[in-house]
Amino acid sequence: MSEAEQPENFETRRAHGKAVADQLRAECESAGRPLGWFDAVYRGADGDPAMVPWGHQKVRPELAEWLAALPRDAPRGCVLDVGAGLGDNANALAEAGFRVTAFDISGEAVEWAAKRFPHPNIEWAVHNLMDPPPAAWRDAFDLVCEVYTLQALRQSMRAPAIARLPDFLKPGGHLLVITKATDGPPEGETPPWPLQRHELDVLAGTLEMVSFEYLDAEGGGSPHFRALYRKPD
Ligand SMILES: C[S@@+](CC[C@H](N)C(=O)[O-])C[C@H]1O[C@@H](n2cnc3c(N)ncnc32)[C@H](O)[C@@H]1O
Repeated sequence: MSEAEQPENFETRRAHGKAVADQLRAECESAGRPLGWFDAVYRGADGDPAMVPWGHQKVRPELAEWLAALPRDAPRGCVLDVGAGLGDNANALAEAGFRVTAFDISGEAVEWAAKRFPHPNIEWAVHNLMDPPPAAWRDAFDLVCEVYTLQALRQSMRAPAIARLPDFLKPGGHLLVITKATDGPPEGETPPWPLQRHELDVLAGTLEMVSFEYLDAEGGGSPHFRALYRKPD
């Protein structure tokens, strides 16, 4: 293991990365570009995942567990991974048999993820969830996977972001939302900003809820929820 890869160095760089991200977010917000900091964080990281505060280089455990529980022989179809970041979730979805389209608002992230995972069943794209979906993505996916992206948005931006999610689904398709959860005040100073369950109520007009699970974090971490919805035929 090189010196640069020693865990203590990683932790030091991660702490620095968080401070840099906070500064970039503040600068972008005061410049009226509240989503601009994501790309700035990836660009500034210059290939070092320690400098991306959410760059764990592993599939999220709540998604891995959900994928492991899928019936082995069921057809998988095509999935859209929302806010794909460094691509670990997209890769896990592809390894589980899905044809994956993975997008992120950050071109830097997409380029980095595509290099990490040149998987034949993953298509990478730059797209802002706040924008109308490209025509080819409308009503097009069997599964839409939103993992840890909404919690990176301030609460004021979440309702319009959540409202976009059903647009991508085929009739009969499913939406999976995995996020940190809270019952208390939604907004602290810095992200992640856990969601309150009622924030997903905006989906009730277009989707049916299939399941809703509270997942208590082991080791005193923050709780999550994992919600599955279905678009009626
Ligand atoms: C906290 S990271 C989570 C990344 C990944 N889903 C994971 O579980 O590791 C949030 C990601 O969402 C992306 N993102 C934020 N706002 C977005 C938007 N409006 N449209 C698309 N991607 C967005 C960010 O660039 C970042 O990569």
